[in-house]
Amino acid sequence: MKRTSKTMSLPTFFNPKFLIIFTIKIYILSSTISNALPTSSSLSNVQFEAENSHNNEHEIPLFRKLNRRHLIDCLSSNPYLQISVNTSSRLSNEQYINVTVSGISRPSDKYWVAMVSPSHSSVKYCPLNTLLYKQTGDLSNLPLLCHYPVKAAFLKNDPDFLTCKKSECKKQGANGSCSTKTCTSSIIFHVINIRTDIEFVLFDNGFNAPCILKRTTPLPFATPNKPLYGHISSVNSAATSMRVTWVSGSMESQQVQYGNGKSVTSNVSTFTQDDMCGGIVKSPAEDFGWHDPGYIHTAVITGLQASAKFSYKYGSGAVGWSDEVQFRTPPAGGSDELMFLAFGDMGKAPRDSTVEHYIQPGSLSVVDAMAEEVATGKVDSIFHIGDISYATGFLVEWDYFLHLITPLASRVSYMTAIGNHERDYADSGSVYPTPDSGGECGVPYESYFQMPTSLKDKPWYSIEQGPVHFTVISTEHKWTPGSEQYNWMKSDMASVNRTRTPWLIFNGHRPMYTSAKSALVSVDLLFVTFVEPLLLQNKVDLVLFGHVHNYERTCALYKGKCKAKPVKDANGVDTFNNSNYAAPVQAVIGMAGFTLDEFSPIAPDWSLKRISKFGYSRIHAKREELNFEFVDSNTRQIEDSFRIIKK
Ligand SMILES: [Fe+2]
Repeated sequence: MKRTSKTMSLPTFFNPKFLIIFTIKIYILSSTISNALPTSSSLSNVQFEAENSHNNEHEIPLFRKLNRRHLIDCLSSNPYLQISVNTSSRLSNEQYINVTVSGISRPSDKYWVAMVSPSHSSVKYCPLNTLLYKQTGDLSNLPLLCHYPVKAAFLKNDPDFLTCKKSECKKQGANGSCSTKTCTSSIIFHVINIRTDIEFVLFDNGFNAPCILKRTTPLPFATPNKPLYGHISSVNSAATSMRVTWVSGSMESQQVQYGNGKSVTSNVSTFTQDDMCGGIVKSPAEDFGWHDPGYIHTAVITGLQASAKFSYKYGSGAVGWSDEVQFRTPPAGGSDELMFLAFGDMGKAPRDSTVEHYIQPGSLSVVDAMAEEVATGKVDSIFHIGDISYATGFLVEWDYFLHLITPLASRVSYMTAIGNHERDYADSGSVYPTPDSGGECGVPYESYFQMPTSLKDKPWYSIEQGPVHFTVISTEHKWTPGSEQYNWMKSDMASVNRTRTPWLIFNGHRPMYTSAKSALVSVDLLFVTFVEPLLLQNKVDLVLFGHVHNYERTCALYKGKCKAKPVKDANGVDTFNNSNYAAPVQAVIGMAGFTLDEFSPIAPDWSLKRISKFGYSRIHAKREELNFEFVDSNTRQIEDSFRIIKK
């Protein structure tokens, strides 16, 4: 599983390749031309730009910077201070826990509570870890807590706290009045089964200079081995076999029971801190962001029918069983019709008022809207094209992401492409040496989302569903001529039988075109040079990318020029007639969760629609017609649509 070279001799950020790339970005942006490697003054520019770019790209919240602050001792103790939880000593698989802090003499906006796991995690000042954080691109006054909290919340989130509406009298005065009054705050935490026990810790002095006041006792989960977070993916185009993948604290094989009494045994895998990327300076995944993933179980169920409903459950007598789930197989490749949802860059967000590492604010509305669609039974499959969970080295967030998508991914085929936030890290084999995966280097991604790829760390594949052939690439692995992936995508697209699957859709993560303000750093121009000709040669109908966090679609586009523009049909919908093929239509669909990107003030000629709202795309393909819709996840309204026909 190991991706990285442990022989890397320099910390990631000081890796020459890394410096060169960011130096180039700075010089492009500032129009300052220099071919020299950074001097000490340009190094600070590099650092500034890297941090700026990192902050823009990663939207580092204040909470994330918590780990870069010094933890000091609280100077005073309060004899009345208490922290408690309204739950039994053994936690269920999902619950909202009310954490109550009482006995506070003077309400302040500096108090906060963190949920940590496992309970023995060190949340003390950890000065030797200071170096570890430099690779994140933030070289400011560094840390630190020794282990990162799962989530945290200020006591002032309780609207009654600062005004002390919930008070107790701890000491009566001589005249019968209260001489010592204390205040109480209650904060709700959404907790899911992450297998390792948890603890709530009360801090004072805010995120900037926290000190520990109180801890609860450790709270274990009642069933840490419980099979959870099952999701399904296609293994081939026949749609008669499907892969079920789930997570459990137990390494013993379990089963999927499905259909009428059929059963198949799971293969079990896991990964460790040693499987994560890093160098002399450890990555978040190797160190302060690590959380034990338990065991990933996967099993391929066979003998199914395409486009057919069936039920399944997974687990064993020893660890218990999941609920029974209703699932529908996608249509077989070559059949007449497919309805699928597609998007990129979704991530996750807390379902409580806490903060956590790397929140994608649109993700909840997008998941909820798509879950409604899936529940109607009209959706055949889902394609999530990169930047999946944004765990980026904070491993517990994979559990929260898997929990979030369960209503979708357990019921229809959930197919994925890899993004920079799953794969990239210096000296690890990724095309781009940025630290965007936080040291994960694709290992957790490939464990949780086992696509029909040929080998580990070669995450490109094709699949056919209904009348569509999907060619799915990794923009994060070499794709230039002569590379293994280039040869594969060339032969894959050339081999498509367009009578069997008239539609050819090309999926990847980084776009070839965007008119977002971030275009300079989001688009690799070599992608247009080397890969776009293959799309034209093979008459690709539709190209879907993410990475840029908005929605944008193009004309029939090649080398930055419109080869054809759509005409309005009787309903006023833009329509391309690919019976007279001109070039691929491209759409950026990275609007599924991450903070939205702004567009440049002027749209280029090739850009036909630009929308910066959260949502997803809904694509309905029949043999002679492909209908594309962009759905606003907050309003459920169709904000844009277009058609490609072959008649
Ligand atoms: Fe991305």
